[in-house]
Amino acid sequence: MEIKTIFVAGFGLMGRGISQTAAEHGFKVIAYDTGIDLLQKGTESIKVNLEKSVQKGKLDASQAEAIMQNIETTTDLSQAGNASFVIEAVTEDENIKHGLYKKLAEVLPDQIIIATNTSSIPITLLASFTDRPDRFIGMHFFNPVPVMKLVEIIRGLATSEQTYNITFDLAKALGKDPITCKDSPGFLVNRMLLPFINEAIYALMEGVGTPEDIDKGVKLGLNHPMGPLELADFVGLDTLLNVCEVMYKTFGNPKYAPSPLLRQMVAAGWLGRKSGRGFYVYNN
Ligand code: 3HC
Repeated sequence: MEIKTIFVAGFGLMGRGISQTAAEHGFKVIAYDTGIDLLQKGTESIKVNLEKSVQKGKLDASQAEAIMQNIETTTDLSQAGNASFVIEAVTEDENIKHGLYKKLAEVLPDQIIIATNTSSIPITLLASFTDRPDRFIGMHFFNPVPVMKLVEIIRGLATSEQTYNITFDLAKALGKDPITCKDSPGFLVNRMLLPFINEAIYALMEGVGTPEDIDKGVKLGLNHPMGPLELADFVGLDTLLNVCEVMYKTFGNPKYAPSPLLRQMVAAGWLGRKSGRGFYVYNN
């Protein structure tokens, strides 16, 4: 079946990025969330991104308008019944995802694939909450989604070959360059990223360097676009702690244990850019 319309469940940071990307690549998007205010905020942020591209001369105003026209927003989950593919990007909470899948089962035609953007919950576990484990898969995008080329495609135990092929091809049609990985904690990229960020936090905790010097070291010495602490603030310390906890718990290996400072900062509500304070202070 040709995929024309994508239902994106969850219009937070990742859901908006996925919606913008899909709309830019000619797909119709139905973006769902539970509150009108969230939908308005999300639409506004996509508009702002597109306006910046117009100002830079990367898009003309009519193209930006056409992209916006591709995105419809709704608080009505039954709209999923009008889509040919579902990408779930709601909060990283098993119970919330479980509740959503239960409701989706009531409105979603049988053949439709559900892909989850989870960064930490096992795909096989999430699949068991659905009525279609063979048509369920992981599709892990990276932030900021419109910019980052990578998508990790993760098969659950029951994911069919057909589901995998359709999802892989869809990632390419979204302009991404996908990789495939097993349903293993942290998948591939977060498994490498978390120990790296955690080590930077240990170095800070032990007074080996200032946040500025730790980040500068990585940017100038390794040619990364952002230093690990800057990146941690960008992604959100709560999200990172969550992934770290899952890896530590599941592998049972102390090398994945979150640093005490990371735990402390999350407890203090210093979550990075989104809360105005993390390893750095943000004024807007
Ligand atoms: N949405 C859409 N586009 C954005 C954007 C956003 N939030 N932020 C930046 N951009 C675009 C800009 O418009 C610009 O586009 P252009 O080249 O067409 O003009 C381009 O990205 C570069 O942006 P800027 O010039 O403003 O800034 P930088 O050159 O400093 O780049 C960055 C910003 C792209 C965020 C870069 O610093 C970067 O690549 N950082 C690393 C990001 C990263 O590692 N992400 C992965 C995080 S891990 C993850 O997501 C997994 C999760 O499970 C934890």
